[in-house]
Amino acid sequence: MQNKILGLLKKKEGYVSGEDISAHLKISRQALWKHIQELKDKGYLIEAVPHLGYRLSASPDKLFEFEVARDLNTTILGKKIFYFETLSSSMDKAMELGVSGAASGTLIMTETQTKGRGRLGRVWFSPKYKGLYFSLILRPDMLPTQASILTLLSAVSICEAIKEVSGIDAQIKWPNDILVHNKKIGGILTQITAETDKINFVNIGIGINVNNDKKALISTATSLKEQKKEEVSRISLLQEILRRMEANYLALNKKGSGPILEKWRQYATTLGRRVKIYCRSKHIEGEAVDIDTDGSLLLRRDSGFVEKVSAGDVVHCR
Ligand code: BTN
Repeated sequence: MQNKILGLLKKKEGYVSGEDISAHLKISRQALWKHIQELKDKGYLIEAVPHLGYRLSASPDKLFEFEVARDLNTTILGKKIFYFETLSSSMDKAMELGVSGAASGTLIMTETQTKGRGRLGRVWFSPKYKGLYFSLILRPDMLPTQASILTLLSAVSICEAIKEVSGIDAQIKWPNDILVHNKKIGGILTQITAETDKINFVNIGIGINVNNDKKALISTATSLKEQKKEEVSRISLLQEILRRMEANYLALNKKGSGPILEKWRQYATTLGRRVKIYCRSKHIEGEAVDIDTDGSLLLRRDSGFVEKVSAGDVVHCR
């Protein structure tokens, strides 16, 4: 009901009479007043003027599920949405929901994480209301060995969405860092729950620095706000990521991995460069020549031998 009331208030710049809202939604004036109070408690600024009605003057920058669902226009991703103010990690909640049978496309969003994590056991700094921290549960009909394409697909979709919403050009550093001007702006963590030859579900965790202030970021990181010099709507960005991911996911099911790999190559900053790849205490060096369908990087060593590297941290040498 609150969603419907907001829908009516957002449609009009000026005041909407209480009588019209009540009649339209078939609720009493008293019930409407109660819902308006609840919306105010959530942070919506709603002016009430006798004889004129109600006017929405400001909305809180929060990722309420009804705000994300409004005009989302997807058929799979975000069909079911869970919203939390705080979680240990959206990965933990997605695992719990995935095990209990949550549908493919379920979205878990949180405003902050107390134990946000990145690849290789690193911490993912998740300041409240500043970034996007969410997980998506997918149940793709593919072999566990093919699941890396979903990480590549997510990275491509994030770059497409960032460009669409903020005009900023983002790039992908293998395996799944999203960079802007060589600084990290986002990352993807993919967790698969599978049997030998069947994926049960995939939990794709995405973190993006959106409105973080420069001074709160480490020197190797950036945010969209820092780049654009103005705040970016987290809701619009999240919606666009979901739309792009869905379009790319449907294309993957129809046409296979070719088109995704092609897009990935266009966004990749790693390909064609001399790189060092650190994995545990070892590192190997060579030229990054291509990406394989399983998400591995193809590295041409100085001997000319092309080696497949499936994990590690890349340092671009030049
Ligand atoms: C990385 O670059 O190392 C991956 C970072 C992934 C961070 C996201 S934030 C939402 C989800 N929950 C987590 O704890 N991690 C992922």
